[in-house]
This record gives sequence, structure tokens and C-alpha cells, in this order.
Amino acid sequence: MKTTVLIFLLATSIATSHGLEHGIDYKIHPLRLKSGSGGHYVKGITCSSWRVGVEAHNIIEWKTIPQECEGYVGNYVLGDEYREDSKVVNREAYFYAKSIDVIKDGKNIWVFDIDETTLSNLPYYAHHGFGVEPYNATAFDEWVNLGIAPALPETQKLYNKLLSLGFKIVFLTGRPQSQKDITVKNLKDAGYYKWEKLIVKDVSKYKGKTAVTYKSNERKKLEEEEGYRIIGNIGDQWSDILGTNTGNRTFKLPDPLYYIA
Ligand SMILES: *[C@@H]1O[C@H](CO)[C@@H](O)[C@H](O)[C@H]1NC(C)=O
Ligand SMILES: *[C@@H]1O[C@H](CO)[C@@H](O)[C@H](O)[C@H]1NC(C)=O
Ligand SMILES: [Mg+2]
Repeated sequence: MKTTVLIFLLATSIATSHGLEHGIDYKIHPLRLKSGSGGHYVKGITCSSWRVGVEAHNIIEWKTIPQECEGYVGNYVLGDEYREDSKVVNREAYFYAKSIDVIKDGKNIWVFDIDETTLSNLPYYAHHGFGVEPYNATAFDEWVNLGIAPALPETQKLYNKLLSLGFKIVFLTGRPQSQKDITVKNLKDAGYYKWEKLIVKDVSKYKGKTAVTYKSNERKKLEEEEGYRIIGNIGDQWSDILGTNTGNRTFKLPDPLYYIA
């Protein structure tokens, strides 16, 4: 009994200090550390296999994290693994960017998604829970409107390196026009100080359309009407990187929290 408590406290304090190091108020307390794959989502299939299925886009159009995997996903995103998985993606993106012989005409762009790519909503999810509570748009908008989402540290490193390599940054987000000002403020406060464009969603124009349609259409405009070349494109959703004008290479960040078609 004592040992169990001690291990839990130790795990909690490690996770907490790790979070604070990056300025994120991680509330890991309601979660219980689960070793290894952290339980089964259905008989014979672990939650870590569920996550691989999600990341590889084999499990699609899911609505919520399986209840059995809530603890697993919570510990994954608040722990080191999410950070390490993000690091791998951003590292490969950097190697690729560095290898490109950029034409120095200011038209090479790198497209970044915002939520769970550039900024992290983990404080919101850590507070509201990872799986059981259904998505509450009102509560999520209230969180976004606070404008205090922290940067994802690994993506921020890539952002800085891309700027020094001479790429222009375009943010392409599903956030609506009404949240543009707070998003600008949030990006700047989080350390993203410079960009070529910040494209927010015209909700009346794209009403009932998928993110794939919206994002493809906006990327097409960038390339075909405005003469940019999308060299790289990074996002946490497959809908950030599928469709047309996806860019020469795409990079998929981990996100086992939600699915956007
Ligand atoms: C959704 O969030 C709002 C704002 O925080 C809250 O007032 C409302 O009760 C929530 N709805 C549900 C169904 O939990
Ligand atoms: C990007 O893709 C386009 C279209 O296939 C190609 O013409 C161009 O050379 C590629 N650019 C780089 C930097 O790979
Ligand atoms: Mg996103």
C-alpha cells in the first residue's frame, strides 16, 4: 500500500515538474499512472494499439476517446511520450527543411495548423477530462478566448529554425474570424512573433464543409492565386494534410485527443 502511494506521488511530481518546465499547468492529479500499454480498449487490444490506429489514420471518424483509454491518453499527453513523439516529427521536418535549396524570392512557405500543433489546449483537457465528457463547444470557446494556450515547445523550435532558414510562415486554422484577435495575441504571447499570413475560417463560406475542403481551398488560393510554394505543411489532424495543394512534404503530429474530418 505504502509503495503504491509513493510511486503514485513520485509519478505525479515528475509529471507536474515536467509540465511546469514548459509553463503548462498540468493537472495530472485525477489520473492514475498506468504502466505499459495502460489497459485495453476492447478485449485483446490495448489502448496503445488504439493510439497507433488513430495516428496511422486507420481508425477514423471517432467521436471520443474510448472510456477505457481515458487514463492512458491522459498519461500519454501529460507525460514524456507525447513530447518525444512530437520531437521526432519536428526533427524530421527540420532535416527536410534544411535539405531544401530555397529560392530566395520570399515565396517559400510552411503551413502550420494552430490547435495541438502550434498552441496546446492541454490545460483545457487536463481540467475537463480526456474522454468521458462530451465535447462542449461553449466551454472550449471560453478557454480559447482566454488566449493563454501555451506553445507546443517542439513545434516552436521548428518554427524558429524555419524562420532562420528563410521560410515564410502561414498559419491555417479552423478557428473562426471572431477568434482572430485573441489568436494573434495568444500566438505573440506564446512566442510566435512573426508570420506571413494567419488564415482563419470564414464560417459562413465553409458552413457544412469539412476541414479537408476548407484547408485545401485556402492552400490552393495561396499557391494558385498568390504565387506561394508550400514546401512543408504540419498539423495534428489528417485533415490538415489531406486534400489538394498539401505541400511538398507533410508532417503529422500526434493527437489522440480528438478527430476532425
Ligand atoms: C458547457 O459549458 C458551459 C460553459 O462553461 C456550461 O455553462 C454548460 O453547462 C456546459 N454544458 C454541458 C452540457 O456540460
Ligand atoms: C515541390 O513540388 C513541386 C510539384 O511537384 C515541384 O515542382 C518542386 O520542385 C518541389 N519543390 C521542392 C523544393 O521539392
Ligand atoms: Mg489542430
